[in-house]
Amino acid sequence: MTQTPSRINVRTLQAMKKRGEKIAMLTAYDFPMAKMLDQAGVHCLLVGDSLGMVVQGYETTIPVTLDQMIYHGSMVSRAANQAMVVVDLPFPVGQISVSHTVESAARIMKETQCQAVKMEGGHQQADSIAALVDAGIPTIAHIGLRPQSVHALGGYRVQKDSERLMKDALAAQQAGAFCVLMECVPAELAKEVTEKLVVPTIGIGAGRYCDGQVLVTSDMLGWNSGYVPKFVRTFSDLRSEALDAVKQYCQEVQDGSFPGPAESF
Ligand code: KIV
Repeated sequence: MTQTPSRINVRTLQAMKKRGEKIAMLTAYDFPMAKMLDQAGVHCLLVGDSLGMVVQGYETTIPVTLDQMIYHGSMVSRAANQAMVVVDLPFPVGQISVSHTVESAARIMKETQCQAVKMEGGHQQADSIAALVDAGIPTIAHIGLRPQSVHALGGYRVQKDSERLMKDALAAQQAGAFCVLMECVPAELAKEVTEKLVVPTIGIGAGRYCDGQVLVTSDMLGWNSGYVPKFVRTFSDLRSEALDAVKQYCQEVQDGSFPGPAESF
């Protein structure tokens, strides 16, 4: 089987860290969004289980199923030509047993044709990370705030336990994770981890010193109507623009000016 030569892969990302080149990752859940992000030059598309909150309207990521991750992952994979596609292992895959983790991740790789998976966990999940890597499944370890453990952590809060963070990061790297993603940790702590690790780090709410950044695309495009976390920068105001357009459509349907002769047969 041949791979598109220009596709970003694990080696590309590790070389980027060595050169001090930052990695841009964004979430994608469907074909048209993934096409646009790929065209814009985003290095990695993350089919995050955040889709449970962004697309499905749940309050947490916990209800998202393996089949749903595969459904969204395959749409994103079909769209991406250059970007590496990474699909999240949903709760509780990764937390039950090593064999369940490997079987589920293998299904994701086979049925979505993504290039890597991401799982929440560090030193406690080191055996699962090692087994995934042994099975030829490139794996990102997600540490710091782990949204699938939101109830155990007592909410979505900044994770300040420096010993735990460093232990998780080193264990993940030792187990073979090709990248470590840190969520909601103080910038100085993320800097220490980034300097200590050979593999790249990607941060969300983890400051500017990480080797790369990830955001939820609908947050950074201003598409969401609700709460926007402090670490998000909104680069666009899509929701307001779309709202105006839809209001105008309703108006023109009602006043009879749409459709006009140009839109009629
Ligand atoms: O599920 C997700 O989209 C994520 C990112 C927010 C890092 O894990």
